[in-house]
Amino acid sequence: MNTDKLKTIVIGGSGYVAGECLRLLGQHPIFHSPSVVSESRPHSAVVEAFPHLRAQVRTQRFASLEDATRLVRESPTLILAAAPHGVSAGLIDTLLTQAAHAGMSPAVVDLSADYRLRDATLYEQIYGQAHGAPARLNQFVCALPEHLPKTPTALVSHPGCFATAMLLSIWPLLRQGISASEFYCTGITGSTGSGRQPTEGTHHPLRHSDVYSYKALAHRHSPEVMHLLALSTGITPRIHFVPHSGPFARGIHMTVQARLHEPLTHAALLAVFNAAYAEQPCVAVLPHAPRLKDVVGTNYAHLGVHTDGHSVAITTVIDNLIKGAAGGGIQWANRLFGLAPDLGLTSPALGYT
Ligand SMILES: NC(=O)c1ccc[n+]([C@@H]2O[C@H](COP(=O)([O-])OP(=O)(O)OC[C@H]3O[C@@H](n4cnc5c(N)ncnc54)[C@H](OP(=O)(O)O)[C@@H]3O)[C@@H](O)[C@H]2O)c1
Repeated sequence: MNTDKLKTIVIGGSGYVAGECLRLLGQHPIFHSPSVVSESRPHSAVVEAFPHLRAQVRTQRFASLEDATRLVRESPTLILAAAPHGVSAGLIDTLLTQAAHAGMSPAVVDLSADYRLRDATLYEQIYGQAHGAPARLNQFVCALPEHLPKTPTALVSHPGCFATAMLLSIWPLLRQGISASEFYCTGITGSTGSGRQPTEGTHHPLRHSDVYSYKALAHRHSPEVMHLLALSTGITPRIHFVPHSGPFARGIHMTVQARLHEPLTHAALLAVFNAAYAEQPCVAVLPHAPRLKDVVGTNYAHLGVHTDGHSVAITTVIDNLIKGAAGGGIQWANRLFGLAPDLGLTSPALGYT
């Protein structure tokens, strides 16, 4: 697609993921100066929400929903949606409807949970509220860009951050049929996983120097992961997931364990994962345990593969706000516009933070 006149809109303005979209797009050669829509502070200075982006955003102000509506009617647009679930579906529906009235069809990547499932009843069961635009559920495709060889329609939903780490770990095993389809997953996330609004669980005095589990075997990402793996491999796995809060701001460390069908060497397991991700520039397969600091601040996922011959443990690290949200969304946008998957997403980690 011709990107000369393309405008980019980020929804979810002052949120953490929207801030990361803005920061990453500042380094992107095509989608570089987005309008950022804020519900709560339209037309206020972006730097007030994101002081760390001062050098980039300068005098930029948040857009309003009315500004975005005008934009989608006038120009070809890419919309990156980073509003909360339950809100995102309605905002996207409004913009798509307005655009259609003007004969435009924006590309959309939704980073919320609203278009990850196809079934409005299941959505209501999991999220405890009716879906905001059920008629659009079938128009969206949800997958990791690494797991869908064919570029879909222009309406895409990105899996959640814990889900991203689980999907990257499990997909090669399930696809090759080398392990049982029952997976035990332990994930630790940093505090930015809960977004900007402070809560008891994210308050610094409680959270620092501590690790604790929550929603054991009852996290919302488990049904999402089962659904997406069933779509991409044809096998519906069982996922037993225990999430944890970690004493750091960014990053996810995920350990996935499963029993092997047949004994397998470490070299053979490594070969399975290397083959699965050989063409994927944002995924590195390592013969040893990966470390969070090597990926925090980047769009890279590092996977460590381990086996005792009878069972496997896959340890995966990502930045929840980037590979698990904003960066994954831009990776999809690159695909939708025929660009290299990692365009604008190749900054390495800081390392020593
Ligand atoms: N945090 C993560 O690691 C992560 C990872 C993967 C996916 N996600 C998903 O990405 C989305 C954004 O996450 P986040 O962590 O950036 O959340 P957040 O920090 O809470 O930001 C969400 C933003 O959405 C905007 N918003 C618009 N309408 C709203 C409404 N009715 N109620 C509340 N906020 C509203 C608000 O900004 P304005 O008022 O300025 O518009 C708010 O700051 C969520 O759907 C989340 O599930 C997050």
